[in-house]
Amino acid sequence: MGTFICTKCHTEFPLDRPLWQCPCGGLLDIDIKADLPIELLQRRPPTMWRYREILPVVDDTNIVSYDEGFTPLVKISFARHTVFVKQDYLFPTGSFKDRGAALLISKAKELGIDRVIEDSSGNAGAAIAAYSARAGIACDIYVPENASPDKIAQIKAYGAQVHMIQGSREEVAQKTLGQAARTYYASHCWNPMFMHGTKTFAYEVCEQLDWYAPHTLVVPVGGGTLLLGAYIGFTEMLGAGLTNRLPRIIAVQAERCAPLAHAFNKEEHIAGDGLYFDTIAKGIAISNPIRRSQILTAVQMSDGCFITVTDAEIIQALKDLCARGFYVEPTAAATIAGLRRYLETAPPNEMIVSTLTGHGLKTSNLIQELLQ
Ligand SMILES: Cc1ncc(COP(=O)(O)O)c(C=O)c1O
Ligand SMILES: [Zn+2]
Repeated sequence: MGTFICTKCHTEFPLDRPLWQCPCGGLLDIDIKADLPIELLQRRPPTMWRYREILPVVDDTNIVSYDEGFTPLVKISFARHTVFVKQDYLFPTGSFKDRGAALLISKAKELGIDRVIEDSSGNAGAAIAAYSARAGIACDIYVPENASPDKIAQIKAYGAQVHMIQGSREEVAQKTLGQAARTYYASHCWNPMFMHGTKTFAYEVCEQLDWYAPHTLVVPVGGGTLLLGAYIGFTEMLGAGLTNRLPRIIAVQAERCAPLAHAFNKEEHIAGDGLYFDTIAKGIAISNPIRRSQILTAVQMSDGCFITVTDAEIIQALKDLCARGFYVEPTAAATIAGLRRYLETAPPNEMIVSTLTGHGLKTSNLIQELLQ
């Protein structure tokens, strides 16, 4: 059921090895054949596990699940356009990260792993902690000191050990990498199992649109787990003849932390290399994403582009979403701020899909402050 492939030395490894990185230090991808019996899908439960054949867990008894996924794809009108918006904030832990955690922790269980570590600004940590709890796997989560107290509380509530680290999000990742030499690194960025969980976003969108891919996909990007997952999913489906096109990927970053947008547009960084300002869209504030070149390639291959949004635009989008009954966290509102920008010049009859990635209940104090 597929193999690991190193992006650096191109060595292949079987998926039954507890790898999250190639021994040469390179990033691993997973190559898997999308052999999906579409005619059987409608008889399967409405969860992400209906795409069982493309999720590399061998034995069903190892699946760690809350019957998550198959989130609603609702239509929302913005000016002249109607956009399909995937409600991924409705996952059990309140963010799309459950897609990645469900597969990654299932695989960890299959490999007999009894302890995992992860670093996160909040949502990935909460997802890994929750699925570890369900699997009976011990879990250590490293978080930056300035992480949202509500998200830290959520991670602790699942029984994970929280380690607060002084310094930036990147310093936390560096520190965790040191620990990962001795433990299974359930990293949403390094471990490719995570993106093969998030790719179910693309499968669900296609199935919900009768196997037509949208023209355009507007997604947030920080570490790239959703963007790359979606790209993998659409590419797999195209390769298997399950859908008709690769959507143009419009990647949204916060203007105050937009290293990928700057690299894509070959602009100088306003704040100098490695130095980025803070933004209210903390989930996408990653100044040095490790899958940087893969993200840039995916956007380029899809004929897409980057859009950056200001914190003022994010607050405006948040107010608008709340007024329509969508209670999401500021990072999720950033995507809709980018979508609004995109719609200013979008052709009238495009089929566009976007998403709401994180629940507002995770950041109620901040939302209250921002909406005042
Ligand atoms: C709510 C939310 N949206 C979007 C993202 C973007 O993540 P990535 O670029 O890793 O897909 C994150 C990451 O933590 C998040 O928490
Ligand atoms: Zn290698």
